[in-house]
Amino acid sequence: MSSISELGEDEFNSFFESSPPLKNKEEIVHKLNSFIELNSSSRGRRIVCVTSGGTTVPLEQRCVRYIDNFSSGNRGAASTENFVKAGYAVVFLYRSGTCQPYCRSLPDDPFLECFQFPDNTNIQVNTSHAEAVKMAVMDQQAAVAEARLLKLPFTTIYEYLQMLRLIATALKDVGPCSMFYLAAAVSDFYVPWNSMTEHKIESGSGPLDIRLAQVPKMLSILRTTWAPKAFCISFKLETDSKILIEKAAKALRKYKVHAVVANELSTRKEEVVVVSSSGNVVVRRDSDKPESIVEDNLIRLIVDRHSTYIKESHS
Ligand code: PMT
Repeated sequence: MSSISELGEDEFNSFFESSPPLKNKEEIVHKLNSFIELNSSSRGRRIVCVTSGGTTVPLEQRCVRYIDNFSSGNRGAASTENFVKAGYAVVFLYRSGTCQPYCRSLPDDPFLECFQFPDNTNIQVNTSHAEAVKMAVMDQQAAVAEARLLKLPFTTIYEYLQMLRLIATALKDVGPCSMFYLAAAVSDFYVPWNSMTEHKIESGSGPLDIRLAQVPKMLSILRTTWAPKAFCISFKLETDSKILIEKAAKALRKYKVHAVVANELSTRKEEVVVVSSSGNVVVRRDSDKPESIVEDNLIRLIVDRHSTYIKESHS
């Protein structure tokens, strides 16, 4: 495996040194350490970090405008539910406001239509949504009560990458029993904090020219330094299906992750291709079952691969 100096350590250091510090870093570290202690040391559970939703790139330090990356958070939320079902503890690193585990069956528009007030002291769920609300509340509460779910929100690329580093560092001792499942849509370009204007960019002086710097590819440093023993699944999103598999195979070789889940934007809910050194596997949702989602079959495959990886690491 290539060393981090070959991959441009300076790039990573300068990104973090120039990032605005995380506001609640101590609290996040405390939550993470307690969660890992409860699951790994005491219960011997596998732990997966699922990233979900898109990162934003602020254009102003007191941010009014930003560039966003597309992701509803559906993939991450559905995958989290399936990992919990498979016995994992999940650190769910998600973009604020995106889809949450156990909430997929709830109407989001408008959510308040689920409820009614028959009188001033009671709140009731409308019959049409009663089952969905009951399941969402019960499943979420059970996952949290059994210490299987820790939710950590981010918004900007700065927050996401600093939090991912904290999680990777905290999970280091879990070794092969830890996994990174990187479904978040991560910005490739950003405005460095030091060169960003503090106040709202003024309009009225013609077109806006902004120079975006490249965000260092964190997959390299994650694999080589932060969590080299963890099982690592990255994603490849393209809109042109002709280049998708080739790009995923290239990422597999370059970052030496254990598999790349390749998906095309318009068909991502129907099928994905898991690209790995043992070949490409097409994973589809069961179209004959209306409730079926592609993540049911995808997580089954990933969990199997993780089991093999753990066995091989111990032998
Ligand atoms: O949320 P949904 O609406 O359900 O959609 C799910 C999804 C399409 C967003 C998801 O399945 C997906 O493909 N996520 C990855 C999107 C993405 O960032 O793809 P990419 O090809 O730009 O990046 C590839 C990989 O590089 C990613 O695993 C990313 O974590 C990583 N990366 C990206 C930028 C960066 N600076 N460093 C990185 O390591």
